[in-house]
Amino acid sequence: MSKLRKVILGIETSCDDTAAAVCINGQIFSNIVADQDVHRQYGGVVPELASRAHLQHIVPVVDQALKTAKVTMDDIDAVAYTQGPGLLGSLLVGSTFARGITLSLSRPLIGVNHLQAHVSAHYIDEPIPPFPFLCLLVSGGHTQIIRVDSHSEMEILGTTLDDAAGEAFDKAAKILGLDYPGGPIIDQHAKAGNALAYKFPDSRVGALDFSFSGLKTAFLYFIKDGRKKDPGFVESNLEDICASLEHTIVSYLLRKLEQAVEETGIKHVGIAGGVSANSLLRSRFTALGKQKGWRTYIPAFEYCTDNAAMIATSGYYQYLSEDFQSLDSVPFARYDN
Ligand code: KG4
Ligand code: ZN
Repeated sequence: MSKLRKVILGIETSCDDTAAAVCINGQIFSNIVADQDVHRQYGGVVPELASRAHLQHIVPVVDQALKTAKVTMDDIDAVAYTQGPGLLGSLLVGSTFARGITLSLSRPLIGVNHLQAHVSAHYIDEPIPPFPFLCLLVSGGHTQIIRVDSHSEMEILGTTLDDAAGEAFDKAAKILGLDYPGGPIIDQHAKAGNALAYKFPDSRVGALDFSFSGLKTAFLYFIKDGRKKDPGFVESNLEDICASLEHTIVSYLLRKLEQAVEETGIKHVGIAGGVSANSLLRSRFTALGKQKGWRTYIPAFEYCTDNAAMIATSGYYQYLSEDFQSLDSVPFARYDN
């Protein structure tokens, strides 16, 4: 193998997906994800079950990532793993596994911030946004508007004060009696519904921050009332309910993003994180960009929800700037922001 080739193995175990990917010179050659069905019956992720499932999946998933990319362990130049934020037990599995490989191969270890990695999903496929750009990061745990100045420099301009956008979808789905994770299910039902059938409140919190707790409470009481009047209310109006809720969340996210563009004057704008897989958000974001004269960027579907391609990509740029960790560093980080 040519010395010019830099092979990064990426490992992601922050929540309930065990994922591994191989990045060679900034290009993705494999991206394997094993999700964990075990949580569905509990309506949310059970941390203890998640870490056990990671232990079962990690060896076959890494093996598959290497085979698909047609590389061996010996070809790896560095291992990048998700250092946080995430569930501590889950993070520990990926962290320990990555340390084991780097120790046995004497290669550098790279700790990756999961949120920075979601932003790095923009560096995988063309067109790649030029710096600076704005990124609306919307996932199950975070909702942020980020100004991205380089591969390593970012500033959070706004963040949620309570629930994340993905959580709002998941909690609403639970209220409706739908499976976990609720975001993609609501997305599906919403396609056949009338988005203006019901009106839900969004929050008026200031600046570029977000809040979803008021919407969650209003939605809970709206459904309770509906069921009191008609026990079959949800079943007979599911599409309209999902479409109206989705419309409220997406409009809210885009209104804040529009404000961020106005305030910063930055017109290269991207979306990232699990909720950026939402079909209404994708189409309305693109339409808004066209209307306002922005250049918009949306990662491929498989790089929106949790994956290791984004970890390997982030790891690749950290490798180039020699942002390595020692083996006795803290195995996980909380990254409060
Ligand atoms: O980024 P991600 O995979 O994990 C975290 O880092 O949290 O995001 C997961 C979140 C979940 O809340 C899930 O419901 C939401 O992304 N999600 C969606 C869609 N696909 C995933 N929300 C709305 N519409 C979707 N199509
Ligand atoms: Zn994520």
